[in-house]
Amino acid sequence: MDTKHYLSLLDELDDLEQTEQIWNKKKRRNKYPARHPQKPDAQTRALIRTQDDTGQNFKFTYQAARFEESWLLESLGAFYEHRWISDVLRRVKGGKEASVYLCVAGAEVSARLLAAKVYRPRQLRNLKNDALYRVGRRDLDQDGNRIVDDGMLKALHHRTGYGEQLRHQSWIAHEFQALKTLQAAGADVPEPYAAEHNAILMDYVGDRSASAPTLNTITMEPAEARLLFDRVIDNVDLMLQQHYVHGDLSAYNILYWQGNIRLIDFPQIVSPADNPAAWEIFRRDVARVCQYFGSQGVPSDPRTLAADLWRSHGYKIADHVPRNGPPLT
Ligand SMILES: Nc1ncnc2c1ncn2[C@@H]1O[C@H](COP(=O)(O)OP(=O)(O)O)[C@@H](O)[C@H]1O
Ligand SMILES: [Mg+2]
Repeated sequence: MDTKHYLSLLDELDDLEQTEQIWNKKKRRNKYPARHPQKPDAQTRALIRTQDDTGQNFKFTYQAARFEESWLLESLGAFYEHRWISDVLRRVKGGKEASVYLCVAGAEVSARLLAAKVYRPRQLRNLKNDALYRVGRRDLDQDGNRIVDDGMLKALHHRTGYGEQLRHQSWIAHEFQALKTLQAAGADVPEPYAAEHNAILMDYVGDRSASAPTLNTITMEPAEARLLFDRVIDNVDLMLQQHYVHGDLSAYNILYWQGNIRLIDFPQIVSPADNPAAWEIFRRDVARVCQYFGSQGVPSDPRTLAADLWRSHGYKIADHVPRNGPPLT
């Protein structure tokens, strides 16, 4: 065995040991501990599946590849169990960080169709500038509560395997929380129904045969573009009012369906008051929206528009990105 391999094995053992210690500590403290954070290995998973009725019963229409199928069973099994969904019909899109599936709603939901956003396994994710977005943001547990447990905080700080798992869940919890808050505030976002450790269930935009396209693929008349531009900016304004900056807003994250829009993809939302780079991130969001609508015949002055919105909510413009933050493109 070469040294590099040996060291990486030691690292893994270290992680496992820490996870176990944290877990045991948690067990002592908490009478009803959360689910074990460490995922079982493939062999154990296969065994669980053969013994678990839910997994056995959950047969879906979508013909998934083998790896994808077990990933779906693992990610969506609880939604099925709780009768939020009854079938998975097809994959809508495989995105950068997640794949979205069209599902038939279960008996517990009044909608007919739902979208399940299933995150890629955390090891395969590639969140650029992760640290930039996390500044001033609380790490949330699976139930959307702020993490206060010492062991969990340590694991996050030291970036152990368990810590990375918590961080992954925190992104999902933030996305779900943002969707819930914004939906309640009247924003144009899909209604969220439930979140699990690796997936979010929300309103599906589209119909059985076609999913809503993203705005970047749409060409429209300037009159319609003007209306929709105002609508997007109203949403941006509403988000600021709810203390959110989207963080990845552009025509790629706005769905267009029958003349209406829905803003999506919120895991990297930042807090305007608590993140020193928030103004720069906000300015970029507004600039990207203006760029698309500019191409549809609606000229605007992105910098002035962003500054006016920003100041109207009482925020100050910090014309710098924190020194250790990567430049925003
Ligand atoms: N609620 C939804 N209804 C229909 N399609 C959706 C929905 N949410 C996402 N999608 C589709 O899935 C794609 C990826 O979702 P998104 O949340 O943007 O994740 P990613 O981080 O992978 O970009 C979107 O571009 C869109 O085509
Ligand atoms: Mg997206």
